[in-house]
Amino acid sequence: MSNNNTAERNRFEGGVPRHIAIVMDGNGRWARARFMPRHAGHRAGVSSVRKVVETAGELGVEVLTLFAFSSENWDRPAEEVSVLMDLLLRTLQKESARLHEHNVRIRLIGERSRLSLRLRQEIAAAEELTASNTGLTLVIAASFGGRWDLLQAARQVAEDVQSGLLSADELDEQRFSGYLSLGGLPDPDLLIRTGGEQRVSNFLLWHLAYAELHFVNTLWPDFGAEELKAAVENFGGRKRRFGRTEEQAERLSRA
Ligand code: IPE
Ligand code: IPE
Ligand code: MG
Repeated sequence: MSNNNTAERNRFEGGVPRHIAIVMDGNGRWARARFMPRHAGHRAGVSSVRKVVETAGELGVEVLTLFAFSSENWDRPAEEVSVLMDLLLRTLQKESARLHEHNVRIRLIGERSRLSLRLRQEIAAAEELTASNTGLTLVIAASFGGRWDLLQAARQVAEDVQSGLLSADELDEQRFSGYLSLGGLPDPDLLIRTGGEQRVSNFLLWHLAYAELHFVNTLWPDFGAEELKAAVENFGGRKRRFGRTEEQAERLSRA
C-alpha cells in the first residue's frame, strides 16, 4: 500500500495543475460505434464525469471546469438539446448531495437566461448548498461560449464606466477578468480535450491564454481515472515559460 502511494506520488512530482479544464467530446461517436442512439453516448458520459471529479479531488486539483454544453450546441436537433438539458438537470439532482458530502463547491458558468426555470433553480440550489465548501471547485460550463463571456463582461464594464463606478484607465487585466464568469478563480493550467479534435470550440477564450493543451483520441465515455492521471503526469513534464527564457523560467519556478 505505502509502496503504491510512493509510486503514485513520484508519478506526479512534476506538479499537479491547480485548474484543469476539459472539453468532454466524443459521446456521439462512442454511441455510433455501438449502433446506439447519440443520447446513449451522453448518458454513458455521465459516469466519466463522476470518475474524473473524484480523481481530480484525490489528486488535489483546486478547480475542475467541465464543458458540458456550448453556445453553439443550441443549434443541435431539438431532441438532442432536450436530452442534454434533461441529463444536466437529473445529474445535478442526483449528485449534488453526494458532492456536498465530499466538500465539493459547485458553480455554473454560462448564459443562464437560455436555461429552463427548473434547471436554473436546481443550479442555484446546488450552488447555495455547496457555497462554503473548501474542497474541489467544480465548474460546469453550460450554455457557455468564450465569446459570450467576453461580451457580457464588456457590457458590464461599459455600464460601470457609464455609472461612474469605474474609469476606463483603471481597467487592467486583473480587473477585467473579475467581470468574466470564472472571476476569482485561477486560469486553467491544463486543457484536456477528448474525442480527437484539436480545437477550442469557443471554450474559455480569455483564460486559456497560457494553458498547456492535451488532446487525446479517447472518446469521453471511455475517459476515466487513469486517463486523467496520464494527462496530469504529462503536464508535470511540460516546461512552462510564460514568454520568458528557459533560464528565467527555471529561476522563477525555484523561487
Ligand atoms: C460531446 O459529445 C457532448 C456535447 C457536445 C454536448 P458530442 O455529442 O459532441 O459527440 P461527437 O463529437 O458527436 O462524437
Ligand atoms: C465542444 O464539443 C462542446 C462541448 C464539449 C460541450 P462540440 O462537439 O460541440 O465541438 P465541435 O462542434 O466539434 O467543434
Ligand atoms: Mg463533438
